[in-house]
Amino acid sequence: MESITDIDDLRAAIRARRARGDSIGFVPTMGALHGGHMGLAAVARQRVACVVMSIFVNPLQFGPAEDFDAYPRPRDADVAAAHAGGVDILFFPTADAMYPAGRAVAISAGDLDSRWEGAARPGHFSGVLTVVAKLFHLVAPDVAFFGQKDIQQVTLIRAMVRDLDFPIALVIVPTVRDADGLALSSRNAYLSPEERRAAVAVPRALRAMLAAWRARGVTDAGMLEALGREVLGATPGVAIEYVGVAEPDRLEPVSAVASGSVAMIAVRVGRTRLIDNVIFDRETRGP
Ligand code: PAJ
Repeated sequence: MESITDIDDLRAAIRARRARGDSIGFVPTMGALHGGHMGLAAVARQRVACVVMSIFVNPLQFGPAEDFDAYPRPRDADVAAAHAGGVDILFFPTADAMYPAGRAVAISAGDLDSRWEGAARPGHFSGVLTVVAKLFHLVAPDVAFFGQKDIQQVTLIRAMVRDLDFPIALVIVPTVRDADGLALSSRNAYLSPEERRAAVAVPRALRAMLAAWRARGVTDAGMLEALGREVLGATPGVAIEYVGVAEPDRLEPVSAVASGSVAMIAVRVGRTRLIDNVIFDRETRGP
């Protein structure tokens, strides 16, 4: 594995791979790598000849009161995990290289960020799109891999790729979970043992919503949301931010669930913010 911090070195390494005829796959991350990130790398490994992963804790996507400073940065463990996960090129840029002094231009998420995570985290998605656009230019991959875990991020990146004509195919990888259903997340590291137990209410609520639709044919979004809230409310220490049901393209709320609709949850457990979602379908194992 090549480990690279400099933008010119990255471009040279990718040019060399291209010259060999390699297809390029890209997995952008903020590090603190876990099974979810490695799942993306594993899917990429099967799809392309050269897997590029970036690790960059992007200051633009954190609000002033958020956890940018506290965000875990276990560099050595991340290098080892990327190596073991079959990454060919690990890109570790510095903030100075990514954001030169005088930086003025950013990508706007438009009205797609007026809801859910966008409403809870003003400016977050503009920060995500700006860094992803920049990384897409630097890596110029054929395929980029994102997790369903961050479903609104997927919606916005899809829109950006379409609206700005990035010649990049997107592959969305199902959420990787712990044995008890909790979605893997770098932020799970913040949870105390007691909070970690309480956090299981999130996949439990999503599972209840999915099961009500699958087994009892409940399609009323209000009823399904109420059910999710009831399950979350039964666990002390879980503060609900939103429980919503939306269509998959723009994540607009729906009143009736159809196959492909999405149930989304955001909560706070202690000081930790957790998000998760599930797609209403008949087949997948669910949370
Ligand atoms: P990060 O939170 O590190 O996540 C990197 C990628 O891993 C994202 O595509 C995310 O959806 C995916 N991922 C996280 N947890 C997952 C899980 N349990 N199962 C499957 N995939 C999972 O998302 C970001 O970083 C940033 O916003 C980024 C896109 C890198 C831009 O800074």
